[in-house]
Amino acid sequence: MADNAKVKKLVSKCLQARDMAYCPYSRFPVGAAVLTADGAIITGCNVENASFGLTVCAERTAIQRAVAEGHSKFTAIAVTCDIKDSFVGPCGACRQVLIEFGTDWVVYLTKPDGSYKETSLKDLLPLAFSPAHLGHKIT
Ligand code: THU
Repeated sequence: MADNAKVKKLVSKCLQARDMAYCPYSRFPVGAAVLTADGAIITGCNVENASFGLTVCAERTAIQRAVAEGHSKFTAIAVTCDIKDSFVGPCGACRQVLIEFGTDWVVYLTKPDGSYKETSLKDLLPLAFSPAHLGHKIT
């Protein structure tokens, strides 16, 4: 797991990413920041579309951006939205996308004030279908 300074940085990056959200329909901005195994931080925000089903969540934007930049080993993700009074988890589709890249992720559910709750992908998606079920081992 990441050291405290790295977690603080990850959390602050997901808050900054939320400010970039393109969400004219829902007006529900979401920010995400993934920490790669080699210490890089890649961010994402939700990107909506007038054809609503084409909307991409912040977590998936971050993952796709990270993979396109050559990263496929991740250790943690921080996610935030504008809800102040509870810790909000990633949607089910995003949980599945995250588990593609390993079960041992730490997930920081982050409030707008920067406070966070630490959980894990294993806890968020128990009994998951994963690459292992297709005989694929993540290297
Ligand atoms: N959204 C995310 O970006 N991540 C999630 O995990 C849940 C939902 C976005 C999609 C849409 O733009 C807005 O939040 C409302 O659903």
